Amino acid sequence: MKFVRFLMKNAALANVPKHIDHFSKFSPSPLSMKQFLDFGSTNACEKTSFAFLRQELPVRLSNIMKELNLLPDRLLTTPSVQLVQRWYIQSFMEILDFLDKSPDDHSVLDSFVESLETIRNRHNDVVPTMAQGVIEYKDAFGQDPVTSQNIQYFLDRFYMSRISIRMLINQHTLIFNGNTNPAHPNTIGCIDSLCDVTEVIRDAFESAKMLCEQYYLGAPELELREMNSNNVRDPIQISYVPSHLYHMLFELFKNAMRATIETNEFSNNLPPIRVMLALGGEDLSIKVMDRGGGVPLRKIETLFSYMYSTAPRPDFGDNQRAPLAGFGYGLPISRLYARYFQGDLQLYSMEVVTFLDMLIASCVQQDSSETLQSQLGGR
Ligand SMILES: Nc1ncnc2c1ncn2[C@@H]1O[C@H](COP(=O)(O)OP(=O)(O)O)[C@@H](O)[C@H]1O
Ligand SMILES: [Mg+2]
Repeated sequence: MKFVRFLMKNAALANVPKHIDHFSKFSPSPLSMKQFLDFGSTNACEKTSFAFLRQELPVRLSNIMKELNLLPDRLLTTPSVQLVQRWYIQSFMEILDFLDKSPDDHSVLDSFVESLETIRNRHNDVVPTMAQGVIEYKDAFGQDPVTSQNIQYFLDRFYMSRISIRMLINQHTLIFNGNTNPAHPNTIGCIDSLCDVTEVIRDAFESAKMLCEQYYLGAPELELREMNSNNVRDPIQISYVPSHLYHMLFELFKNAMRATIETNEFSNNLPPIRVMLALGGEDLSIKVMDRGGGVPLRKIETLFSYMYSTAPRPDFGDNQRAPLAGFGYGLPISRLYARYFQGDLQLYSMEVVTFLDMLIASCVQQDSSETLQSQLGGR
């Protein structure tokens, strides 16, 4: 029996390149926030979602696997990238299993939800594993500007594809796994149609603060200002994925705290991190400002490269405590999350030459502000 299964598995594996070729000829069908909301709120139909995903997920997986195959051989053959590739092939095959199954059969729909959950869990560690592969490659072969640029381009597309695939999987599994979420009645899958932005800002700030206190035995305070141009008194609520917003803010706060502490280590008073939250007719903007020394203008784009970090590289195997910084993934991945729903993340550095500084030490002080923008209408 085992032998028969082994043969069948190998036969399926042998057909994988053919299937990848087939599905990669289709372009992914992007979905907007509005489409996610419309689909999830009006008696979401599990059969329709199943029929869409069993085609759409192989299209997205195969497109990105094709791109993965174009990486330099020496990167592709690192153990970590090989592992990532195996995860993708395995998940791809598991979804193909559903191509000839009937959407009218309830047990098929149930096992589809289970498979998607397994796939999501399998891919939990894709980001650090891929990062490990790039480190192995760079440590072994060094880096030249052209290859680095190609890897940067690939990783942006790879992680964006991952965000979009996880979004599709989460929507299906959360809507159709049979559990309602009484604590958050306004959620549609992982989207909260009344996402309380102030609450997410405070949550993310508190988590970053706890981490910062563990490392530096202190942390700056938060100064938050809000402007709701629609109605000054109303809380600022938007349709958004709270976990995406949290991720971006947590990364920005960790950066702002580290810069503030390292620049002001001899000062008794840490300058607070100021956050300005503004809701307009179309856009929501969050401006995070610190007085942490800033970054020269010519370096701004470098900060968005994967692996660029001015912090010591943490140990990948070190699960003792979460690192505050050092992987260099905070800004680039956060920018992808912002762009996923047509927003953006921009970093501005402002040189502040104070009179006193100039007179006494010719010191140029730079401050940073990072602005997150999200389009309310989605795509
Ligand atoms: N607010 C900031 N002020 C000064 N430098 C910053 C700020 N935010 C980010 N940086 C710089 O950008 C680098 C990359 O940031 P990030 O992508 O979050 O990775 P990491 O925090 O792991 O280093 C940081 O190491 C730091 O040098
Ligand atoms: Mg960071």
